[in-house]
Amino acid sequence: MREFDSKDGVMLFGGMPVTEIAGEFGTPVYAIDEARLRENYRRVHGAFSRHMDTQVHYACKANTSLAVLKILESEGSCIDAVSVGEVMTCLKAGFTPDRVIFTGNNVSNEELRAVAGLGVMINIDSKSELERLAMIKTGIPLSFRVTPGVGSGHGEKVKTGGEGAKFGIPLKEAVGTCLRAKELGFDPKGVHMHIGSGGQSVEPFVDAVGVIVDVANRLKDNGIALDFIDIGGGIGVPYRPNEPEMDVEGLAADLTEMIIEGTDVRKLKIEPGRYIVCDACVLLTRCVDVKDAGVRKYVGVDAGFNTLVRPAMYDSYHHVEIGNKLGRACTAKYDVVGPICESGDHLARCRALPDPEEGDIVVIYDAGAYGFSMSSNYNSRPLCREVLVFDGRAELIRESERIEDLWRHQRIPERLLR
Ligand code: LLP
Repeated sequence: MREFDSKDGVMLFGGMPVTEIAGEFGTPVYAIDEARLRENYRRVHGAFSRHMDTQVHYACKANTSLAVLKILESEGSCIDAVSVGEVMTCLKAGFTPDRVIFTGNNVSNEELRAVAGLGVMINIDSKSELERLAMIKTGIPLSFRVTPGVGSGHGEKVKTGGEGAKFGIPLKEAVGTCLRAKELGFDPKGVHMHIGSGGQSVEPFVDAVGVIVDVANRLKDNGIALDFIDIGGGIGVPYRPNEPEMDVEGLAADLTEMIIEGTDVRKLKIEPGRYIVCDACVLLTRCVDVKDAGVRKYVGVDAGFNTLVRPAMYDSYHHVEIGNKLGRACTAKYDVVGPICESGDHLARCRALPDPEEGDIVVIYDAGAYGFSMSSNYNSRPLCREVLVFDGRAELIRESERIEDLWRHQRIPERLLR
């Protein structure tokens, strides 16, 4: 977990007091630290490219804000996109189609047609998808997502690579599907895996890369020489205080060695999402209500699971501090809860906090990955704003929605108005 500096008990984020960010823009607000975003990108790119020609394809599902994409574009990143919406958002941010790989799952013909028309590389997820793409467009380079039979992640809902998973071409069909692609006039360029998200151990990566190395060699024996191996994303980050960081340098050294020694493939692609944006962002929310319910004490804030769903959805831990009371002694344990009408609306449970009061700025740490991008309008609450902090200044990069935006796409049939 990232540590922050403070001045007179007020947390500094990107050089700016969090109270000032909240005061200037209102709450809830996602604040993104540009310098940290760039640092994270460079660290992970550096770790792998030291050993092998490596292209980082930022998994933009973690955060698709145009400003974030633009920053990563300027760093030289490429993109992992999962929908036509993500592809078009990245093109809008300035990525050229050759820097985007589309990795869909259960892709409709309509979406396949749209994505193929945009000129991005398609990472084939099934035999069905391949045959359907062949009716739309052939003669293009392709990548193939293989189910390695190894899953890893922070919970069951985010493990994607295990045997029987809904993702990827089953291992026993991998070589046959690539050969079939050649027969259909495609140019197989790479094989891909993604074991899951937020796992903190190295072994599953090693096991899965072993499987992919074997697939690459079987393809070579069948006359298909690959340009690249794509090992997906999933590098975990520490959310809890004192939780160790994953050894990314070691991971990079081990995996690249396996590929260099085990295959003729000399290009690597990696798809980190969380690692790049997670700790570059905090969610600032305001304490609006304090309640002692006897068996439990509550800090009520103006962000709920509509704003950050991860604790409610995955029981994820996000560290919480009162941003204007850093370093003060904690008085009791509180649950941090939002305004959503469900008892599952928790941002944090049983946290020691220093005398929370109405008006305090409650900082939710590590909110950059799958924070804003999974937020919703539940309970008819407008989506919140995002600001980019750089050099002690904050700029608005996403306005919050207005109440009218909730009705924007709705129609009342004429006959109901009579
Ligand atoms: N590549 C593929 C094909 C993926 O499906 C994903 C994530 C990534 C890369 C990036 O994984 P990362 O490096 O961010 O772990 N909403 C969940 C996480 C879902 C991840 C889905 N796929 C959460 O909040 O934890």
